[in-house]
Parts: sequence; C-alpha cells; structure tokens
Amino acid sequence: MDPKTEAFRITGLNGEKKLSGEISVSGSKNNALPLLASSVLFAGPVSFSNVPDITDVDKMFELLRNAGAVVTREGDVVTVDPAGVAHGEIDVAVANKLRASIILTGSLLGRTRRITFPSPGGCVIGKRPIDLFLEGYTKLGATVTENENIFTVSADKLSGMEFFFRLQSVTGTEALLMASALAHGTTTLKNVALEPEVTDLAEFLRDAGASIEGVGTNTLTIHGTGGIPLKNNSKEPHRVIPDRIEAGSYLVLGALCAHDLTLKGCNPSHLELPIITLQEMGVPVEVRGTDVVISNNTKPNNAFLPASIRTHEYPGFPTDLQSPYTVLCTQAEGESVIEEMIFEGRLAYTADLVSMGADITVAHPHKAVVKGPAKLSGRELYTPDLRAGLAYIIAACVGKGVSLIHNIHYVDRGYENAEAKLRQIGVAIERVSV
Ligand code: EPU
Repeated sequence: MDPKTEAFRITGLNGEKKLSGEISVSGSKNNALPLLASSVLFAGPVSFSNVPDITDVDKMFELLRNAGAVVTREGDVVTVDPAGVAHGEIDVAVANKLRASIILTGSLLGRTRRITFPSPGGCVIGKRPIDLFLEGYTKLGATVTENENIFTVSADKLSGMEFFFRLQSVTGTEALLMASALAHGTTTLKNVALEPEVTDLAEFLRDAGASIEGVGTNTLTIHGTGGIPLKNNSKEPHRVIPDRIEAGSYLVLGALCAHDLTLKGCNPSHLELPIITLQEMGVPVEVRGTDVVISNNTKPNNAFLPASIRTHEYPGFPTDLQSPYTVLCTQAEGESVIEEMIFEGRLAYTADLVSMGADITVAHPHKAVVKGPAKLSGRELYTPDLRAGLAYIIAACVGKGVSLIHNIHYVDRGYENAEAKLRQIGVAIERVSV
C-alpha cells in the first residue's frame, strides 16, 4: 500500500481517562541517524542496537548503500560495513525526502574529501538553512560550489580549525565533529549543541578510537586521524539511546487520556524539563528507575494548570515536544503561553487544532496564546510534519467523535509501531486506506 494514501482513523474519548497500560520506548531517531552516518568514518563494520524501525532510518540505509556501504539488519541490530564506500555523491531523490541526509555530508566529506548533495531547501517547520555546515567545511579547507541546487564540497586535505557556532546546531555539530575526526590536526568546535543525541555520538566515536576531548561540554576538541579511517575495537554493538521525544509525546497522551500509563525504558534524565512541566501543571507523573509513570490520574483535564513553555536548546524545553504540549494546554484551565524559539514555522499546525475547537491565537511566528479548556471535536486533518502528527493523534484521542489524520507517512518517519503501541493502551486507532 502506498503510505501516502494511508490515514489514521481515531475515535476520541471525549475527555475520559480510559487508557491504561505500558508502552516501551524505542530507540531515538535523532540518535540513530547520526550514528548510522558515522559508520563511513570506519575502516570496517560497525554495529548498533536498539535501532528503530522507522522510514527515516530506512532512507539513511538507502543513502549509505548508494555510497557503497553494505547495510544489514537483524532485529534491532544494524551493521554497516563501509569498506566499499567509494564516492561521496549523496542520492538526490532520497536526500530530498530526508533533511537529516545533511548529517551524512560530514562523515562522507571526512572519508572521501569530495561530496555532492542537493540543497535540502525549506521545510514546513521553517527555513532551515545550511550556512553553518558550509562555513565549517570551508574552514576545514574545502571549496564549496553550488550549481542548480547541487552543492559540491571538495578538498585535497582537510585541516584542523577553530569554529564557533553562532547558533547551536544539532546536526551542524554532528557533521563538523565527524568531518574533523578524519582531518589533519586539531579542530576546536565552540558553542556546540548539547542534546543527548549529539553527546552520545561524540561518546561513541571517542570510545571507538577517535580522539575527542570535552564530550558533554560546549567545546569539543578533536585530534584528527590525518585521513586514516577509525578502527572500531568494540565487539558489542553501540546501543541507540531511548527516544525522549517519543516518550514525552506519549506522556502527554497519558496525562490527557490515561488513568495509568507506564513508559518503559526511558532515560528520565533526558526528560527533566518535560516531566517538571507536567508536574507543575498538576499531572501525577513520577520517575521510577528507567520507567516514567503516570498513576491514579483521575482528576478532569480542566484541573490541570496552564503553562508557560519556551523551547530552547537542551537542556531547555525541546522544540520537538512543543506541539504535544500545546494540545495539553488546550485542555488546562486558563491561559498558557507557548514560545517557539528554534524554528519560525513550527506553530502553523495550531490552525488545525483551532478547527477542532481549540482557542489558540498565534501572536507572531514564535508565540501562541492558548486558552483552555476547550472541547475538541473530531476532524479530517492533514499533518504537516511528524511532530504535529503526534499532536493531532493526541488531540483526536482527547476530543469527541472520529478524526481522520492524513499524511501519516510523516508519523511513520519517526515513531516506531505507533498504532500498535497506541492500540495496546486502548486507543481506538485504525490505519485506513484513503
Ligand atoms: N540553523 C542555521 N544554519 C544552519 C543550521 C541550523 O541557521 O546551518 C538554525 C536552524 O534554522 C534553527 C537552529 O539553527 O533555527 C537550530 O537548528 P538545528 O540545526 O539544531 O536543527 P537540526 O539539526 O536541523 C535537529 C533535529 C530536529 C530538532 C532540532 C532542534 C535531527 C535529525 N533533527 O535538527 O528534529 O527539531 O535539531 O532540536 O536531529 C524532528 O525530529 O522532527 C526534528 C525536526
């Protein structure tokens, strides 16, 4: 079945807290993608476990295979043998569907010193430029040219440099870290992103033989290998970290619709502010080891307090959880303020929540005021991106009547087994062909 013709049909609970049970959190998309991209820095095979089975990961496999790598999956373990990587041409058709293909430019440049890739262009959540990548590659000694939206970056030799990120960039940090790992000499990256997905990549590369200092701080110092691929001495696959965004999204669903919900296999330290925000709103949520548990959630949703949420680089509030939390705010009693500081187009989806009955005013591209509680009614919706897709699912669950959510290929990009996990806790969700 063509995924573009599938939709989710969800019957809402009309505010009743009928869901209950457990959900196991999958491996993180935004950790798996850079880890897989980093495999081309190695001389021989590298393996990863807990790799989520989602379509963005499949697209990364395709890009790696097109470049000459051999990729195999057995269950949740993926092995990439990069020995045959012969060129740095990133497949245009696949890259156009995967913005995260930009991460692969860093590792492929390190390995092949000549890459071509398409301009990732704009996107529904904002402009998302790549100037920081290109400036970094230029500073490493590469020449950048662009012809009809195809970039070519090439260098006889990559040389260590010092680079200050004027904006903290997750994939920018990952790409420059990987390119400099195989450069000649020492590179210092300042004001790097501190998201757990980035720190885990740096730890993996360091443990696998790259010389990286400052992991977990905002300055990384990388002593390049001078063009020699890394040798991975570890026999064990490197484990992808739990998906904090998936966990946070299902927590919001639990807050609104579940009497009891346990999220298994989290790293709660990656979820501090989202959990604190729930607690401040009055959601009975607590951490028990690697479980995050909502229990005895009996009060009506209008007993929740409004929130003031401002997205920020880690450890601030994640932009990828802004849309689910906005749905939560539509049900709380009073006025919430949502400030989206990372992407300028990431409040557009609120118009669909308004069509369901929410009271949301977008003051400007970075700020929305949400007045609650509002009764939401089922609607036919077209999700603009994967995170809004989960927000629509939550809104459909808490609302009254039936919703039909289109464009669910976005949800399949980033949430492993979404409908099976949702059905398991009692959500009336069906994948239908439309
Ligand atoms: N930016 C620039 N120039 C650049 C790069 C970034 O101006 O060259 C700007 C961006 O436009 C944005 C800010 O810097 O305003 C920060 O963006 P960042 O580069 O950190 O975002 P990203 O690396 O493109 C990753 C995640 C996103 C997540 C953001 C923020 C991956 C594959 N993607 O994107 O995840 O929202 O960091 O945390 O890791 C998602 O999973 O749905 C998603 C969009």
